[in-house]
Amino acid sequence: MFVDVAQSPVLSVYQTLVGLVTPRPIAWVTSISDRGIVNLAPFSFFNVFGANPPIVVFSPTLKRDATKKDTLLNIEATKEYVIHASTEAHAEQINASSAPFPPEQSEVEQLQLPVLPSQYVRVPRLAEAAWALECKLLEIRSYGDGPIAANLIIGQVLAMHIDDAVLGEDGLPDPRRLKAIARLGAEYWCRTRDLFELPRPK
Ligand SMILES: Cc1cc2nc3c(=O)[nH]c(=O)nc-3n(C[C@H](O)[C@H](O)[C@H](O)COP(=O)(O)O)c2cc1C
Repeated sequence: MFVDVAQSPVLSVYQTLVGLVTPRPIAWVTSISDRGIVNLAPFSFFNVFGANPPIVVFSPTLKRDATKKDTLLNIEATKEYVIHASTEAHAEQINASSAPFPPEQSEVEQLQLPVLPSQYVRVPRLAEAAWALECKLLEIRSYGDGPIAANLIIGQVLAMHIDDAVLGEDGLPDPRRLKAIARLGAEYWCRTRDLFELPRPK
């Protein structure tokens, strides 16, 4: 199959791309509104892009009506947020937090997820997440102004909170303990259980 993007409907380009670029890690993001309401939502347009300084990027796209999602509005207003691990234990809650809650309703309250204060940002973090990255906004790069248009939220990680239970003997995250989950195409998700090791070439 050949897809000429310019000749294809936006929805089909989206569905095809998210089926191809897989698996995608999931950022589970807390942010706060200017009225102090804590928002929580998952984003699989997400990854890490450097470590010195540590840079992470995720993208809340524009909604089907081309308006901005609450996470984007909050981060535009407050310039800070916390990104959490998506792991097997939280699959149901991660999915549930993606429902279109109105901005005056807090997903962390609705889903009864306990939070703790963060060290450097005013946004609280999820107490039970395997890890949490406190982030400050560096810039937002937007491309397009219609449905599913990208808004790259480029941020710097200020601090990492890591549950000791997911660390190995060497003090580094152990994938067998972390039990990360990720997004595939359609409504598929995956676990990270079928591991293999490959030493890097010298
Ligand atoms: C696993 C998962 C991954 C998602 N990834 C994205 C994404 O990368 N970008 C996006 O805009 N929406 C994504 N969504 C949908 C948002 O989570 C959803 O629109 C949510 O309501 C946004 O919340 P907010 O309006 O509070 O920011 C995803 C949903 C799920 C369940």
